[in-house]
Amino acid sequence: MNLISRLTILFLATAAVAPAREIVISTDRTKMELRVEDDGSLTQRGYGIVGDTFPNPRGSDEMVHQFDFYPTFGDGYVLEPALQVTHADGDISTNLVVDNVETVTDPNDPNIITTAIRLKDTVQALSVTIFLRAFQREDVIQIWTKIENSEDGPVILRRFASASPMNFSKSYWLTQFSGNHMNEANMVEEKLTPGTKVLGSNLGARAHRMTSPMFLVSLNDPANDDSAYVIGSTFMWPGSFRFSFDIDSANNLHMIVGADHVGSSYYLEKGQALETPKSLWVFSTEGTGGVTRRFHDWGRKYAIRDPEKPRPVLLNNWEATNMKFDEERLVSLFDSARGTGVDIFLLDDGWFGNKYQRDDDTQGLGDWEVAKSKLPRGLGYLCEEAKKRDLGFGIWLEPEMISPKSELYEEHPDWALASPGRKPILGRNQQVLDLTNPMVRDFVWSIFENTLGPNPIQYVKWDANCCIYQPSSSYLPKDKQGNVDFDYNSSLLQLMSKFSTKFPETMAMLCSGGGGRVDYASLANFDSFWVSDNTDPMKRVFIQWGFSHFFPSLTQSAHVTHMGGRPMKFSLDVAMSGALGFDIDFSKVPPEDMDLIKRDIELYKKEIRPITANGDYHRLKSPYDHAQSAVLFAAKDKSQAVLFTYQTRDDSEDQTVRLKGLDPEKSYTIREVALREGVKSALSADGSTISGKDMMEKGLLIPTKEKCGSAVILLNAVEKAVGKEAVTREQAS
Ligand code: DGJ
Repeated sequence: MNLISRLTILFLATAAVAPAREIVISTDRTKMELRVEDDGSLTQRGYGIVGDTFPNPRGSDEMVHQFDFYPTFGDGYVLEPALQVTHADGDISTNLVVDNVETVTDPNDPNIITTAIRLKDTVQALSVTIFLRAFQREDVIQIWTKIENSEDGPVILRRFASASPMNFSKSYWLTQFSGNHMNEANMVEEKLTPGTKVLGSNLGARAHRMTSPMFLVSLNDPANDDSAYVIGSTFMWPGSFRFSFDIDSANNLHMIVGADHVGSSYYLEKGQALETPKSLWVFSTEGTGGVTRRFHDWGRKYAIRDPEKPRPVLLNNWEATNMKFDEERLVSLFDSARGTGVDIFLLDDGWFGNKYQRDDDTQGLGDWEVAKSKLPRGLGYLCEEAKKRDLGFGIWLEPEMISPKSELYEEHPDWALASPGRKPILGRNQQVLDLTNPMVRDFVWSIFENTLGPNPIQYVKWDANCCIYQPSSSYLPKDKQGNVDFDYNSSLLQLMSKFSTKFPETMAMLCSGGGGRVDYASLANFDSFWVSDNTDPMKRVFIQWGFSHFFPSLTQSAHVTHMGGRPMKFSLDVAMSGALGFDIDFSKVPPEDMDLIKRDIELYKKEIRPITANGDYHRLKSPYDHAQSAVLFAAKDKSQAVLFTYQTRDDSEDQTVRLKGLDPEKSYTIREVALREGVKSALSADGSTISGKDMMEKGLLIPTKEKCGSAVILLNAVEKAVGKEAVTREQAS
């Protein structure tokens, strides 16, 4: 049987005579309705739930092309355009009409249906194909475009967005995930008002000094986790981006998502095409919780590298040693990890450079030979010593960067991105390499070959600690200087993909001075990302909460450190809700804490990780609103769940947690885990069996009360309720 279902609608050359046609992009629960109007333009009618009938959108008299799905500059559209082009002959207007629509079901995966809508300019030989890929079960719609220049000469793309859906609600509540180094993914919600609101990053190679590439728009009311109508979107791109939110005079919301940011005007040669990064969209009637679970499912199935691989427990040395170490010190750290259950030792920054030995961040980036005075027997020796202690070995690389104080810079000063004739602008004493230059790309690739090729290295932390402050390339011709940011990031994604393809067994963590680069295009090549350099668990509760909206727990590297001076139990309980690791010197940890660490690593691997890695994520109580916050992971078949609660302030009132995601018909045994040896649970429900319905309706009393109190509770479904009767909030208190 032919699995390919192919529907091709060809429109007459003179679109004006073609009748209006509906194009519905649907998933199991959602749909986006588009229409080809009589004049050939492509408009949008609504994005919502299958079965909804969208009313005619509200028009404003003065607006032209008000509902265009991909609005262009110069055809009367007066809001922010998705596309703005200076054509080869100097014409600055673009007016697109539909030329062809094609829908294809993926022959290998009928869950994926892609509609390609080709539009062409009415005057110029320029075309735009809009791709809408609908992942049926996950309700994710992926939208991007391809812009093809068949004109007589080069064109300049001044705006080249990936998608621009509209919404026609009464009001719109935007949540952004803004931040900085040590302070990522802070959630800020605001009601959108008339005018244009822009979120974005102009940092070129990272995002977190501004905002992470994701947002939520709640319709009519502020967002909640359960029932609000919420649109969630994230952008598959590690570089700069621009998201704009524009409310027109009829109160319609225009959202534009693209890589076209300040300073980018893309010079597109005659005969060439530019494919824009993919944007991802989810429409949920189950609030932000629904958005989250759709993205987590989609990410685990379609985006994240090796989602089925259990994430190893790492021991990183950055917090413990910084760059001050030698062989003896590292081997002593390996020794200290013996018998703990740690899987891989990850050697961080400071292992390379000879003329300019990397002892601090002022020098050495680019000189990727082992520092002989620190590690005379090389990486092979360290791999061997780690192996003797049943540890794998991993290494830190910052391949895209160059220190002005390096041998690489002495040889190739022109390989750094910098404005000619101007003083170089450094970030953390370094500059970004010009990945638009193929020689530089070859050099960067050689770092992987030379480091990973001869040594059995099992893990790489790929870091990036500088922005592109001066996006000028000595390699690109003068016309193409506006292409630097886009071409840099396209090359970067190719390098990441080459890395994960050529070294499929080498696991990897995506890092950019903490969580400065977190996106689903990069994550295709990484097992996890470094959430933040802020490892104080008190702050991590918030940062992990923020990222959880789009990225599942198995991707969030969460390490236990001494930062913040919190109790070991609290640090462990926070880290165990992500991909658990450590960044401490075990030899300095008191024996009672070491005992807890060992018990927790075992517990995590056996009972927690299988649920957190694959389960449904439910946010129960927000740390923004409550002194006690709570999250729950439920196995897909609802047979098991793990609940984490964290006390970020003293409070003895607000101690009830209503669970979600359980089977109301099932009863669950309740077991508080992650306790020190001999410590009894303070939870009155511990050991009892309670129905899922009761725990979801009445809640569980988790008396953590004091700041830094925390609890980890495992729930296992039983066939029939046995043992104690259900413990309700009232009974328990
Ligand atoms: C920034 C990272 O976020 C840290 O974890 C560490 O790897 C340093 N860079 C090393 O320079």
